[in-house]
Amino acid sequence: MAPSNGPEKGKGAPRHVAIIMDGNGRWAQAQGKPRLFGHHAGAKRVREIVEACPDLGVKYLTIFAFSTENWKRTQTEVAGLMSLFRRYITKEARALRDEGVRVRFIGDRVRLDKKLVKLMDELEALTEENDRVHLTIALNYGGRDEVARATKRLAQDVALGRLDPDSVDEETLPKYLDTCVLPDPDLVIRTSGEARISNFLLWQSAYAEYEFIDTLWPDFTESVFAEIVDGFAGRERRFGAVLA
Ligand code: FPP
Repeated sequence: MAPSNGPEKGKGAPRHVAIIMDGNGRWAQAQGKPRLFGHHAGAKRVREIVEACPDLGVKYLTIFAFSTENWKRTQTEVAGLMSLFRRYITKEARALRDEGVRVRFIGDRVRLDKKLVKLMDELEALTEENDRVHLTIALNYGGRDEVARATKRLAQDVALGRLDPDSVDEETLPKYLDTCVLPDPDLVIRTSGEARISNFLLWQSAYAEYEFIDTLWPDFTESVFAEIVDGFAGRERRFGAVLA
């Protein structure tokens, strides 16, 4: 059961922050280095940002690591990213477990290589008792793809007589999404100066606050993160209602 979402007066930290980590390629190219150099630098930032969450009051962090559209990149870059994900999981698994991080993956695993999927399953199992920070990594993830896969499963349940179509409402579909156990994001951050959401958490971000910042992901430090999280506390979230 997903933790509930509801109106609150712009106080306190965002419980769930989602980040589109953009700008690795430009960061590397600005230094005359290959794009993969930027992805490696970006991976190092992930740890710092995860570690900052408990002190900032952020319980859920969801990061966009690879989209359903990222397969269109060169074969070298895709292979390099897949190898980076395998290495990251292998190298960080124990530290994540010891630091109380519960790791989940969202996205379609069917197209990912079996070795990587095995590592993902193992990391989820290794950290399933943890509750200090919930880190969700979106890998081969697309919001439209997720809604399509959810709809397919929902339709199968209707066909099998397990779900009455008349009972379907906006509480039903989220139960079929990859994020079914997560609260909706309160704040979505995108680095690198692009102001678009690129198919990230489309359903879940209906009432999220957005922050688009120029900083490239490899330069996204804990203090930049803290400043944005502090800024969130001043926002008034009405969820379509009028607050007293
Ligand atoms: C976008 O920058 C970034 C990605 C497509 C990959 C994100 C991956 C990481 C931060 C690395 C590792 C993550 C984990 C979980 C280990 P871009 O390549 O689109 O940059 P550009 O817009 O400057 O070209």
